[in-house]
Amino acid sequence: FRPVADSCPLTPTTTHRRLTKVSVIGAGNVGMAIAQTILTQNLADEIALLDANRDKLRGETLDLQHAAAFLPRVRIVSATDAAITKNSDLVVITAGARQVSGETRLDLLHRNVALYRKIVPAVAENSPEALLLVVSNPVDVLTYVAWRLSGFPASRVIGSGTNLDSSRFRFLIADHLQVNAQDIQAYMVGEHGDSSVAICSSISVGGMPALKSLRDNHQSFDEAALEGIRLAVVGSAYEVIGLKGYTSWAIGYSVASLATSLLRDQRRVHPVSVLAVGFHGISDGHEVFLSLPACLGRDGILGVAEMDLTEAEAAQLRRSAKTLWENCQLLGL
Ligand code: NAD
Ligand code: LAC
Repeated sequence: FRPVADSCPLTPTTTHRRLTKVSVIGAGNVGMAIAQTILTQNLADEIALLDANRDKLRGETLDLQHAAAFLPRVRIVSATDAAITKNSDLVVITAGARQVSGETRLDLLHRNVALYRKIVPAVAENSPEALLLVVSNPVDVLTYVAWRLSGFPASRVIGSGTNLDSSRFRFLIADHLQVNAQDIQAYMVGEHGDSSVAICSSISVGGMPALKSLRDNHQSFDEAALEGIRLAVVGSAYEVIGLKGYTSWAIGYSVASLATSLLRDQRRVHPVSVLAVGFHGISDGHEVFLSLPACLGRDGILGVAEMDLTEAEAAQLRRSAKTLWENCQLLGL
């Protein structure tokens, strides 16, 4: 190409718009599902991948780059050094051990905290203004760890939390009622893990409160069905891990939906892991991160919804907070 008269040549620096950069730490199953979903949704001008395994990283990078002819133009770079993440707008951290069959998410804690002690300070130094989105498990405790190690304000440190569990919840309710999951409003809150809490009292279908009207109409959406669905949500990851070894696609879409709300300032409400002190009786001094519905925008967490919970739901949420806080305290951060 030859430039028209009186214009700049076609070089990589001809743009005057500020470019959006997303870094993904950990190019494993989850990191690559997130990177490819962000790529297809045209959310970033540059995607940087960081992993400790040089060959795997190079292979994944080439494989994504080779799709360039079918995708929006995005610069894809990668390295084993955190300098590659410099000046990111959003850093998604997926590096770390994953569960094998029979392990809980909390069983991963000490292995993954050791990695976070290396990764988070380097990432924070390279992108001091970035939003941090934590995905590695146990995600709520690691979001606390990332907050402490980065020194970032809590509004810029977010855990992917129960955005995924809530999608599983909505899928199962929708499947039971034979409607579209996007028309189901329903939250799982608390820990992304075994003590997660289903907020059944506020489920709505197409904007209408579901429980009361379904009960009044004697339809087959009774408490036993709901409890079955709640148990299925809590068991979902164990089932998928037992069958294919890991989970990846749903977390890829879940994180891309969070990235859209953040980077495009969409101000949508997502259940994500936030600093929950002061909400629903979670006491001062218990600096625990767990999922509550939060409004997400370009500055991170813009606000947390005050949910109207039943006594039983609030008590379960406090139990979830207690489990997480006990784990955070073991770390001495
Ligand atoms: P994986 O083993 O496929 O990938 C992990 C990657 O981390 C590997 O490529 C490894 O080389 C890399 N890594 C290890 N140490 C590193 C370091 N110091 N710096 C950079 N990279 C490093 O595992 P996966 O299936 O992708 O799962 C990753 C994590 O995500 C696990 O902790 C898993 O439990 C978690 N996860 C969370 C959710 C959620 O909803 N929050 C969902 C699925 C998985
Ligand atoms: C999930 C992971 C394992 O898919 O936390 O829920």
